[in-house]
Amino acid sequence: MIRAVVAKPGTPGNLAIENVAAPQPGPHMAVVRVETISLNQGEVKLAARAEPGKRIGWDLAGTVARAAADGTGPREGERVVGILPGGAWAEEVAVPSHALAVLPKEVSAAEASTLPVAGLTALYALEKGSGLLARNVLVTGASGGVGLFACQLAALCGARVVALIRQERHEALMREFGVRHIIASEDGSAAAKLGPYRLVLESVGGAVLGNAVDMLGPDGVCVVFGSSSGQDTSVNARQFYSSGRSARIHGLNVFGELAREHASIGLDRLLRLMAERHLRAHISVEAPWEDIARVGQDLMARRIPGKAVLHIRR
Ligand SMILES: NC(=O)c1ccc[n+]([C@@H]2O[C@H](COP(=O)([O-])OP(=O)(O)OC[C@H]3O[C@@H](n4cnc5c(N)ncnc54)[C@H](OP(=O)(O)O)[C@@H]3O)[C@@H](O)[C@H]2O)c1
Repeated sequence: MIRAVVAKPGTPGNLAIENVAAPQPGPHMAVVRVETISLNQGEVKLAARAEPGKRIGWDLAGTVARAAADGTGPREGERVVGILPGGAWAEEVAVPSHALAVLPKEVSAAEASTLPVAGLTALYALEKGSGLLARNVLVTGASGGVGLFACQLAALCGARVVALIRQERHEALMREFGVRHIIASEDGSAAAKLGPYRLVLESVGGAVLGNAVDMLGPDGVCVVFGSSSGQDTSVNARQFYSSGRSARIHGLNVFGELAREHASIGLDRLLRLMAERHLRAHISVEAPWEDIARVGQDLMARRIPGKAVLHIRR
C-alpha cells in the first residue's frame, strides 16, 4: 500500500490522505517516488465535488523508482517532473514516460513541481498568439500561478507585457518579476489605456473578459483558459464582429493541448528556461502534504499569490 490524496466527504475541501493500492505501471510508464506536488485552482475546485475515494492531483516532481519497461523515458534514479490527469498526489505514481521530463541540476523538485499545469498553460496560451513578437500582450490574473509564468514567457518572446491585477498590493510582486506595465483594476477596464492588444491571455472571466475582448486590435486573439472570478461574461457582440478587426476568442485547455503534444516537450523547454534563471516560480507557501486541506482552502480564498508547494515526507 501507499498513501495518496483522495476525496473524502466530511473533510475540509473533501481532501484526505489515505492508504491506496501501489501503482501498477503499464509497459510505457515509469514509477515515480513523489517528493513535491503543487496545487492548482482547478483541481482543488474539482476535488471539492469529487466522488468519495477519487484520487486527486495533477502536478508532481520526484525520483524515478522504476524506469518504463519498454525502455522509454527517464532512467531509474533520475529526478523528474510530470503531469497526470488525476491521482498525482501520492507517495508513488505510475506516469507515462512522455509526460515526464528530467530536471537539470539547477532546478529543485519544489520549483519543478510548479511547472506542469501552470507553466504549460502559460506556454500553450502564448503559442496561440505565435507571430506576435514584440507586440502588446495583456495578461489578466497576472498575480496568479499561470499569470506570473505568462508574464515572464511573453517578455522572453519580446512582447510588451501589460499585467492586469486586481489588488494594488501585488504591484511590488509583479515588479520583482520584471513586469513594467501594471494595471490594478477589478473589472480590467483601466487596461484599455495601454491597448489595443494583439494577444490577451485571459483567466478571470466576468467583466474582465468582456472588457478585454473590446481591447483587441486588428487580428487580435483573446485566449480564454480560466474564470477565476466565477462570474458570467457579457460580450458586446455587435461591436466585436462589426469593428472589422477580425479578432478571435480562442478557448484553451491544457489537457486538450497534451493530446496534441507530449508534456515532456513543453516541460523540457520550461526547465531549460528555469535552469538559466530566465523563468522563476513564485512559491509563496511550502508545507508538508498533511496540510493539504488548509493550503487548498487558502489557495481558493486567494490568500496565496503565485504557487503553493507541498512536500511528501515518508
Ligand atoms: N484551461 C486550463 O487548462 C487551465 C489551466 C490552468 C489554470 N486554469 C484556470 O485559470 C485560472 C487561473 O489559474 P491559476 O492557477 O493562475 O489561479 P490562481 O493562482 O488562483 O490565480 C488567480 C488569479 O486571478 C485573480 N482573480 C481571482 N479572482 C478575481 C476576480 N474576482 N477579479 C479579478 N481577478 C481575480 C487573482 O488575483 P489575486 O491574486 O488578487 O487574488 C489571481 O491573479 C483559474 O480559473 C484556473 O482554473 C485553466
